[in-house]
Amino acid sequence: MAQSRINIKRFVPAVIILLAVIAAAVLFILRPGADKTPTPANNVAPQESFSPSKPSDDGKDDSAELPPDPDEAARARAASMQDYAIDPNTGRAADITTMDDNFLLLVNRTHALASSYAPSDLVKVEHSVSGVGIPGETDQLRKVAADAFEAMVAAAESGGIIIKLRTGYRSYAYQRDRLYNAYVAQYGRAYADTISARPGQSEHQTGLALDVGGASEGFALSRNFGNTKEGQWVAEHCCEYGFIIRYTDGTKNSPGPITGFISEPWHLRYVGVQPATSMKNSGKLLEQYLDVMY
Ligand code: DAL
Ligand code: ZN
Repeated sequence: MAQSRINIKRFVPAVIILLAVIAAAVLFILRPGADKTPTPANNVAPQESFSPSKPSDDGKDDSAELPPDPDEAARARAASMQDYAIDPNTGRAADITTMDDNFLLLVNRTHALASSYAPSDLVKVEHSVSGVGIPGETDQLRKVAADAFEAMVAAAESGGIIIKLRTGYRSYAYQRDRLYNAYVAQYGRAYADTISARPGQSEHQTGLALDVGGASEGFALSRNFGNTKEGQWVAEHCCEYGFIIRYTDGTKNSPGPITGFISEPWHLRYVGVQPATSMKNSGKLLEQYLDVMY
């Protein structure tokens, strides 16, 4: 018995040191300000910046105050699958081998693309703004969308309306490093999520979406685009070329309840003439047109 007490005493200092080390490690991991948000891979300013007027708290990173990320489960699901984007014919996750046949592909906060996905038929759009994005990369669209865009540009020009593409296809890495992470660093995650899709969740990665600029505002990305003659022409005629204005459920300052984005009158998405015309006439978003769960 005496021998047993002596042995226990010999271990007491070691146990105390071990507990102290564990406590120090836990305090370090849980320390205030520990930032789990990935920082931008570089310090390049957002290429699509339109100097949004954040309502308040300018410059304050409020990510630490946010409730748990509602997209966590969806992103975990997406990460565990090669692709997770809805095939409207089956209502199920699209197979990467059939995605290039699917112009109604749904990509949003709950339907993400694999980081490795890139369309196979990207072509350069001639009528694009120089000095924006990465030449040879973001001035591309999938062939069907590029042809439709050039036809729309020509029709607009015949009516005295000059429009150009700013960015079309954007890779997963471009969306992550040049846009989303840069916005998070600049404005905080909550506001960034209302103006930029997270990597994998941007339609630009499909090569079927584009941002358009008009001559009257120097082809800038402008919140006022919808009020310009170019923006009004595009809103009226883009469905004739297979495009929809994709984010229409929000306003300039508040994000839409379904898409989660502020209104973007400059962001067009190719879906084909018949679906685009139907959506314009019904006022439905792509999510509502496809009648899927979101
Ligand atoms: N601005 C749109 C939502 C995007 O980042 O794809
Ligand atoms: Zn866009």
